[in-house]
Amino acid sequence: MQDASQRTVPVLRRQNRSEVAQLSDARSSRRGGPAREADRTILAVEGLSLAFGGTVAFAEIDLSVKAHEIHAVIGPNGAGKSSLINAISGLYAPQAGRVRIGDASFARVPSRQLAALGVARTFQNLALFAGLSVRDNILSGLAGDRTAGLAAQLLGLPSARREAREHLARAAAVIELLELGSFAERRAGSLPYGIQKRVELARALVARPRLLLLDEPMAGMTATEKSEMSGFIRTARETYGTAIVLIEHDIGVVMRLSDRVTVLDHGRRIATGTPAEVQANPKVIAAYLGLESEDVADEDAA
Ligand SMILES: Nc1ncnc2c1ncn2[C@@H]1O[C@H](COP(=O)(O)OP(=O)(O)OP(=O)(O)O)[C@@H](O)[C@H]1O
Ligand SMILES: [Mg+2]
Repeated sequence: MQDASQRTVPVLRRQNRSEVAQLSDARSSRRGGPAREADRTILAVEGLSLAFGGTVAFAEIDLSVKAHEIHAVIGPNGAGKSSLINAISGLYAPQAGRVRIGDASFARVPSRQLAALGVARTFQNLALFAGLSVRDNILSGLAGDRTAGLAAQLLGLPSARREAREHLARAAAVIELLELGSFAERRAGSLPYGIQKRVELARALVARPRLLLLDEPMAGMTATEKSEMSGFIRTARETYGTAIVLIEHDIGVVMRLSDRVTVLDHGRRIATGTPAEVQANPKVIAAYLGLESEDVADEDAA
């Protein structure tokens, strides 16, 4: 039987992204204008479960992310945060549940079609091409967007030249947006760690995704670098209207940056809400203090 995703993705691939944006704008204005646009769900994770042999990475996870939303996913080490992003981006195959991206729904997200689906991501550990320049690293984020064939590129045909020019212009725009101009021709591997993390964000952003998955983009940064990076993440959302799933350990950053927060503990979703709601949730406090939820129930009863 044909999966719903197989019917939907080719439609998305035939249209370029601005056409897709126009379509969705038109749809939202029919439904009542830009106010409704913000209500549109970009990502819906429904009952998703993944185990590695006997190890449960996460189980029965529900998560929904709306257009323009910054949605943080937090939880202690080993809670299942990276595994969840890996499943949403198709690196891992969940055993149960669905992932809906826009109008397409998947049991396993096809990772090769991520760019066509409008999804980009960064990794918990740096994953840049250390020997390439910052600009070339950023251009590699458009590899999935290339439509000119290899022969056209090799022969320097007008279609390939036009595409190359367009990609360079997009990379230049992101370099300016994330203030990477003075590093653009430097080898990525030679740059300070904080700048390399920003290059990763730029590489993910250059494709102008409608959904961006960021796995600890501020890990190992100083307080100043974190606040800079938070600013760039906000800029990314404001400039491209991107919805963002943000895994982050620094609770202060999460409180300041996110619209909503989902908390995982031992692979289970224990809370979703605004930063203030989640911070006050006894189950969340217990998870961070290493208490069992029964202890919290006992304390509540006492
Ligand atoms: N490829 C894998 N093979 C086997 N087990 C894995 C794999 N990836 C993750 N796990 C296990 O799944 C569980 C969740 O791990 P995950 O990396 O998703 O946690 P996390 O919340 O991202 O933790 P951290 O905050 O330390 O990055 C852990 O028990 C981990 O050992
Ligand atoms: Mg992780």
